[in-house]
Amino acid sequence: MGSLKLPSFSFKLPFFSGQKLAVGLDIGSHSVKVCEFRQSGNSYKLISLGSAILPPNCIEDGVLQNPEAVGKVISTLSKNLQIKGKKVAISISGYSVIVKKINLLSMAEKELAAHIQAEAEQYIPFDIDEVYLDFQDLKTNSAEDERTDVMLVAAKKEVVDGYLKMLHSIGLNTVVVDVDAFALENAYGANFGGQTENVALIDIGASKMNINIVSKGTCVLTRDIVLGSRLLTETIQSHFGISFDEAESLKICATPAGDRKAQLDEIFVNTCSQWVTEAKRALDFYYSNYPDEIISKLVLSGGGSKVKGLTRLFTEETGIKTEIFKPFANAEADQNKIDPDYLKNIAPEMALSAGLATRSTDI
Ligand SMILES: Nc1ncnc2c1ncn2[C@@H]1O[C@H](COP(=O)(O)OP(=O)(O)OP(=O)(O)O)[C@@H](O)[C@H]1O
Ligand SMILES: [Mg+2]
Repeated sequence: MGSLKLPSFSFKLPFFSGQKLAVGLDIGSHSVKVCEFRQSGNSYKLISLGSAILPPNCIEDGVLQNPEAVGKVISTLSKNLQIKGKKVAISISGYSVIVKKINLLSMAEKELAAHIQAEAEQYIPFDIDEVYLDFQDLKTNSAEDERTDVMLVAAKKEVVDGYLKMLHSIGLNTVVVDVDAFALENAYGANFGGQTENVALIDIGASKMNINIVSKGTCVLTRDIVLGSRLLTETIQSHFGISFDEAESLKICATPAGDRKAQLDEIFVNTCSQWVTEAKRALDFYYSNYPDEIISKLVLSGGGSKVKGLTRLFTEETGIKTEIFKPFANAEADQNKIDPDYLKNIAPEMALSAGLATRSTDI
């Protein structure tokens, strides 16, 4: 796959002095998000960001179904934002991506690279020739234990190639293909370090939620669950017998709830409780493996995280402090180009694209 690096698990600050950064492109099922940073000392200068809604069914379970329509939306968005960079970083998720932590006898990097394919076959439910494979030795071996954890990632070639082809057709060169969970982790690391704490990053998009538990800078559990904010819209739509667009407008409070408020509140609580239940399941699983590694906070991102009162619901149900991701905490925005209110409003959705935009083009 040429110069592609698939994907990065690096939790260090992903750029080095003097390196150029990729344009971060998050192609979600609801919208495309784009973010561009410039390096500025030890922080970032945010030079462009924006999003554009996709027509329905363009992306299904992480698979690009309508390349022409998506390509058109990305081209128009880039043009409107006057983005000059042609080197992009994208990320993927869904059934075609497998992330698995395996435990192996510690060996030199070269030896591991030669060995990993044979090792991976038993963990990957696809033909090994049909996937791109990547790995990172987490170097958990010690003087007493010569085994080490290795993070293994496999992604279906035809799915990845679908994105690359579409982006190439609109003149973009994909320099990084990452996994959603790791892009989120990079965004967190770039803003808050996170090397000494245990946090659960929870991205709630339109069609899925992604849970990524990061322990002292290393991803220890990642899960995609097919349950997003679109379900809220669909429930509102069927409950009131209205159109999808009317339901969406009610959901995001663009239309006042009026006398529907009590019923709406009930729908919100019921659906959002399903997100909380999934988060609790992941937390229980984590604690069964790491009982002493206390999670200090939950960090919510994605459009779904903008439901009013959601952080309070998570805190009440899990007993863990919950906050909304601030992916630009360590970035200075160009105030002439980016309206501060717009930035504040859109920030939760931009977490993934911000993580991708911290990746170097120099690979
Ligand atoms: N204030 C709000 N309250 C509830 N939901 C909201 C709000 N604002 C936006 N959303 C929802 O967030 C979703 C879009 O979020 P996001 O951009 O993170 O999704 P996506 O990345 O395109 O989807 P996915 O990651 O699932 O493929 C839409 O379903 C939208 O209706
Ligand atoms: Mg998303």
